[in-house]
Amino acid sequence: MPRPTRYITTPIYYVNDVPHIGHAYTTIACDVWARFWRLDGAEVFFLTGTDEHGQKVAKAAEASGESPQAFTDRVSQTFRELARSMNIANDDFIRTTEPRHYRACEELWRRIHAAGDLYLGEYGGWYAVRDEAFYRESETTLGEDGVRRGPTGAPVEWVKEPSWFFRLSAWQERLLELYERNPDFIQPTSRRNEVISFVRAGLEDLSVSRTSFAWGVPVPDSPGHVMYVWLDALTNYLTAAGFPDETHPRWRFWPADVHVVGKDILRFHAVYWPAFLMSAGLPPPKRVFAHGWWTVEGQKMSKSLGNVVDPREEIARVGLDPFRFFLLREIPFGQDGDFTRRGLLKRLNVDLANEFGNLAQRTLGFVARNTGGVLPSPDVLSEDDRALLDAAAGLLPAMRIEIERFAFHAALEGAWQVIRDANAYIDREKPWALRKEDPVRMGTVLWVLAETLRRLAILLQPVMPDTMGRLLDQLGVGTEARDFAALAHPLPGGRPLPQPEPLFRKVEETVGQGG
Ligand code: ME8
Ligand code: MG
Repeated sequence: MPRPTRYITTPIYYVNDVPHIGHAYTTIACDVWARFWRLDGAEVFFLTGTDEHGQKVAKAAEASGESPQAFTDRVSQTFRELARSMNIANDDFIRTTEPRHYRACEELWRRIHAAGDLYLGEYGGWYAVRDEAFYRESETTLGEDGVRRGPTGAPVEWVKEPSWFFRLSAWQERLLELYERNPDFIQPTSRRNEVISFVRAGLEDLSVSRTSFAWGVPVPDSPGHVMYVWLDALTNYLTAAGFPDETHPRWRFWPADVHVVGKDILRFHAVYWPAFLMSAGLPPPKRVFAHGWWTVEGQKMSKSLGNVVDPREEIARVGLDPFRFFLLREIPFGQDGDFTRRGLLKRLNVDLANEFGNLAQRTLGFVARNTGGVLPSPDVLSEDDRALLDAAAGLLPAMRIEIERFAFHAALEGAWQVIRDANAYIDREKPWALRKEDPVRMGTVLWVLAETLRRLAILLQPVMPDTMGRLLDQLGVGTEARDFAALAHPLPGGRPLPQPEPLFRKVEETVGQGG
């Protein structure tokens, strides 16, 4: 039987800026999802990359005194390195300046043109370079400072130039039908409702080419026009799947299972993108998930406030896996959240060090000190033993449901419930008292704990790959026995275990200051 395929994407990030925790967040979430389904036996294609065309990037290149190509080569590399430093297991990293991407954009353009959805005209209206978005006048407001701004607060400028238009207005009904027939196409539901009302209110044709600058993919057979950067950018998801080569080994991954995006760019993914695709005769993605927005210590992150959180600094301070854990545990994916150093340290010190770290240390440290480092084999299991083992065994089916719907916080909360149960089990069973009274029973208790840890470690690998790898090493679980299929084969007793080491270190409050 062929393995199920799953294709997940992050947005491709603009290279106008250095990466911050917002980018880290989306990419880590996708990484966890991709790793989870890989361990569950699926064939996963996980894509991330950089968005390198358009006015915003061209301006940033100019400001840094570099050619656009040199600038994008350099900044794209910092995003690639960030992914590596966050242990992201992506299968491809796409850059929109690559030849394969030009080919895909040109072919998509030709198909949309052949479908009769493109016409030449003139655009006169407001444009926000920061958002790379066109806004209706009614969406803008004139500030007291004399600056007109779009709904996101980005300054807009008046643009008047020849332009190709996409007949978006003709797609209104078919888009509504798509949302209707596929209730999960846009998640979470609150976002779905917003998009539906936006589309119901009526769609205007969309300007899809620019003529006032040249940093973009040239429009086929239309000198002077480059493609609108969003049409170009969205196409990356097709490019990486081999489009237009339908014999490409990756083409079987299309349509993508899910595009994960921040709520800021939902409209582009849930309205424009499926319309472009359907016009070109291609199936739209199965799902678009829009997550929430991080603020920092209660404030919007901005360069002018100087409060932009650099993920590399946080990782250096607290370690990668605790950072990954915090981002996914702290707020439900889909809701907004506030990044605070206090919150981060609390999760580290309580959830990781006190609860999980202690459970491992109490169990493995006890084995090291009292059974000559050999994990005992279990004897007859009591009801208390079975209750804990059953709770641990129930995690996989529960996590499948939670991870499928991007409820990372709930998946983790479920695992932590088992961790707390296991800590309470030790307190109840008192292996230290059993050592003299009933060593056989002590052996069973230790084995139950080790088996529970094994299950937790396997299931938590997607969130904390390195740390869980170390825990599995300490449990003597070979690398070939770490996927979800291996959950069915309990830990053999009677084997020596390596010397245990602490999984997590506590971080002092003061270490979290500054930055
Ligand atoms: O929009 N909180 O790129 P971009 C949470 N190139 N997530 C955040 C965030 C925050 N404060 N700030 C950024 C673009 N993000 C386009 C995308 S896709 C075909 C083209 C994350 O560099 C979030 O995922 O502005 C958001 O959607 C994305 O970064 C925007 O990155
Ligand atoms: Mg942005």
